[in-house]
Amino acid sequence: MTILVTGGAGFIGANFVLDWVAHSDEAVINLDKLTYAGNLENLAGLDGNAQHIFVRGDIADGALIERLLAEHQPRAVLNFAAESHVDRSIHGPEDFIQTNIVGTFRLLESVRAYWKGLGSAAQQAFRFLHVSTDEVYGSLAKDDPAFTEEHQYEPNSPYSASKAASDHLVRAYHHTYGLPVLTTNCSNNYGPYHFPEKLIPLMIVNALAGKALPIYGDGQQVRDWLYVKDHCSAIRRVLEAGTVGEVYNVGGWNEKPNLEIVHTVCALLDELRPRADGKAYQEQITYVADRPGHDRRYAIDARKLERDLGWKPAQTFETGIRKTVQWYLENQAWVSNIQSGAYLEWVEKNYAERVQ
Ligand code: NAD
Ligand code: TYD
Repeated sequence: MTILVTGGAGFIGANFVLDWVAHSDEAVINLDKLTYAGNLENLAGLDGNAQHIFVRGDIADGALIERLLAEHQPRAVLNFAAESHVDRSIHGPEDFIQTNIVGTFRLLESVRAYWKGLGSAAQQAFRFLHVSTDEVYGSLAKDDPAFTEEHQYEPNSPYSASKAASDHLVRAYHHTYGLPVLTTNCSNNYGPYHFPEKLIPLMIVNALAGKALPIYGDGQQVRDWLYVKDHCSAIRRVLEAGTVGEVYNVGGWNEKPNLEIVHTVCALLDELRPRADGKAYQEQITYVADRPGHDRRYAIDARKLERDLGWKPAQTFETGIRKTVQWYLENQAWVSNIQSGAYLEWVEKNYAERVQ
């Protein structure tokens, strides 16, 4: 048996592939375009492991997908591939439309043709699992209840709008063509291999480099944080036991304002790698101009996943964030390899205009 994963060289996809190989004997075909966010170093632990087959390519390349499906006959396709960073979607939405909408559409078309050609038992067993985000639901006010699977879609950024469009396509392919789909909408992830353009790894990396820790606006925006390995275990569980056509929200009940996250990261670094001058890392905090259209609060109600499929996260925020800070301290070479010209150009573009 084989599964096909897209975007498996990115943050969550790579964690998923590594965990999959650790938990199962089943082969995994990993299709990734290797954009700036894709990094084969994330998968170095699988070098020489025949259970993992890496293919460089685009989810929008129908001929390639068709060939891979025919050759490997996967029992499931899991779609992690996406443009994923809100700030990049504000600077340049085009890639988000191309990969998240057109790419998902092309992938669905290839998968639909493959699925139609399977025998009836294989057709019934087949799954297309689409990995999505809580950001499609929009922004919550302070005392609103957390997002359930029934919450209406109100995406506010080009990123979340493009993910919302992809979710709707996946839904339509089930409703119209009967494709056996599953969709997961997860809250903010953190953990190993997180690209340091996102809040938590950026703060760790900048703190250690003696750079400013840029807080957008007042820093009171709330995100709901889940350790990436817990997201991966939820996806495995949904793949194994989820009801076809259903949506599952994934979250760990860890709502925290950004400023609190940054203070926690600073306190852990004070403990694990104190500054040479004896001062606290939080002295590096700098307030910068806010993100346009910045969503104020996300919160996931994950009761359906717990009730129907018995899933629970293994990490609390306290255990997960400690592991994460430790991982970055132990993997400084991974960080420095990423900080190439293209990364530095992005940092300049995103932060130069924000200085207040
Ligand atoms: P990421 O940006 O780290 O990785 C995306 C991967 O997809 C990269 O390896 C990239 O090379 C690949 N890719 C991009 N365009 C492609 C294309 N056209 N064809 C093939 N591969 C392509 O993203 P991530 O944080 O790992 O997110 C993975 C998925 O999970 C995304 O769909 C994202 O929307 C979703 N998600 C992310 C979070 C989060 O907190 N990071 C939370 C919920 C859901
Ligand atoms: P991010 O990691 O980009 O995830 P998302 O926007 O998908 O939730 O950002 C998390 C939060 O941190 C978000 O409210 C924006 C904020 N943020 C900062 O305050 N400073 C930064 O430099 C970055 C990258 C994010």
